[in-house]
Amino acid sequence: MSNDNRASEIADRLRERIVTMRAGEKLPGVRNLSAEFQASAATVSAALSELSAFGLVRAEPGRGTFVSGRERLPEPDFSWQSQALAGARVDADRAARLGGYGTAEHIPLSWGYLAPELLPNEELHRIGSRAAKSGRSWMMTPHAGSPELRRILASEYRADPNDVLVVSGGQQGLVFTMRTLAEPGSTVITESPSYPGAILAAQSAGLTLASVPADADGIRVDRLADELERTRARVIYLQPSYANPTGAVLSTERRKQVLELAARHGVFVIEDDWARHLDIDGRPPAALFDDDPDGHVVSIFTLSKPASPGLRLGAIVARGPAGERLRASRTADDLCVAPLMQEIACGLLTSSAWPRHLKRLRTELATRRDTLVSAIRAIAPEIRIPSVPRGGLHLWARLPQGSDTREICAAAYTAGVLVGDGRHFFTDEPPAPFLRFSYGAATEAQIIEGVRRLDDILEQ
Ligand SMILES: Cc1ncc(COP(=O)(O)O)c(C=O)c1O
Repeated sequence: MSNDNRASEIADRLRERIVTMRAGEKLPGVRNLSAEFQASAATVSAALSELSAFGLVRAEPGRGTFVSGRERLPEPDFSWQSQALAGARVDADRAARLGGYGTAEHIPLSWGYLAPELLPNEELHRIGSRAAKSGRSWMMTPHAGSPELRRILASEYRADPNDVLVVSGGQQGLVFTMRTLAEPGSTVITESPSYPGAILAAQSAGLTLASVPADADGIRVDRLADELERTRARVIYLQPSYANPTGAVLSTERRKQVLELAARHGVFVIEDDWARHLDIDGRPPAALFDDDPDGHVVSIFTLSKPASPGLRLGAIVARGPAGERLRASRTADDLCVAPLMQEIACGLLTSSAWPRHLKRLRTELATRRDTLVSAIRAIAPEIRIPSVPRGGLHLWARLPQGSDTREICAAAYTAGVLVGDGRHFFTDEPPAPFLRFSYGAATEAQIIEGVRRLDDILEQ
């Protein structure tokens, strides 16, 4: 999907070719390779640089790129590293699926960000150029973030600007919050199914995961109470609004019950508030944070979802000593988020274009979601939709019992369609075969074509 992936893919293809060539032989020029791989000159150059870094080719300015002599390719011996490294904390397979994992040719029916045409591109270009020219963008901000941005982000919540810590995206907010609020080896409870990135964040923080089933109204609070008793966990991870992957919104009654449980057991609730601005059918409920004066809820906000995947900017909103600890220990990781990003975020969030963008986004997401639902119902009725999401970016769908989602997703990949394998959203065995579809990354025509190709696979 990304240029990096594409460049590596081209490098792999060239590597196979180089093996059959003689040392000193010339590779085709960048223009020819661009035409052959249907990639930009920059992507081909990146692929050649990758090969050059491995000593497989050498570039001679003005002459071209040549296959290196074999004597320049010593086989490295990394075997000592396997002994020196302790067991990997983070599941590399799950990690590889976060972010883009297809190519530019794939139909992205599973991707958690907006399609390029849905981003506020013009505003970002304008605000970005202006920010780049501002002296403030090239100076450090206070560690917790620029005072202006903290004030703007605090106004998204019933929060004091001092409660806000600017971080570079929701994922970083999750890892950092889990690492700071929980001791390694302790348990974090997640709803199930849940966002695979939260599972990775917990692994990275050295935490043990316990999962509690969720239904259309969010986490099952009766089961949560049992699990809190059983595990003595001090942290719960939840997505109360438009959960990824199910789209569920935690019901009003359960919101109250979660807060009561948090108070009774003295636990933190990490509220992953990624979809706050991705509502489709009416505004989402207020953040859990707003109903919790006692500092149990720590909210995580991100701009990468409603604005742009490359706008790596988010916030952790936390009250009390936990908030102080988060802000104080943050400097161990990073002295501040790139001030240029902070400046762009301030510009965007205070621009008159921002509410216009959100309004347009709501209409576009509604159209694409409805197209996806209609396409599944008309073309592939064997895929059952338990509930249509009222916001967010994802639709959770069930396949007939016995379907092998691993095989189906692999076949879909080969057929040029990315679709999310439900297995990745569970910490243990999935209770049934599920797929996750995303409607924010593909056009309407792509959505219909993607469902058609998937139906062909299901009928085989
Ligand atoms: C539920 C959820 N939380 C957090 C994130 C992290 O996103 P980012 O780091 O881009 O803010 C994602 C991204 O897919 C997500 O789906």
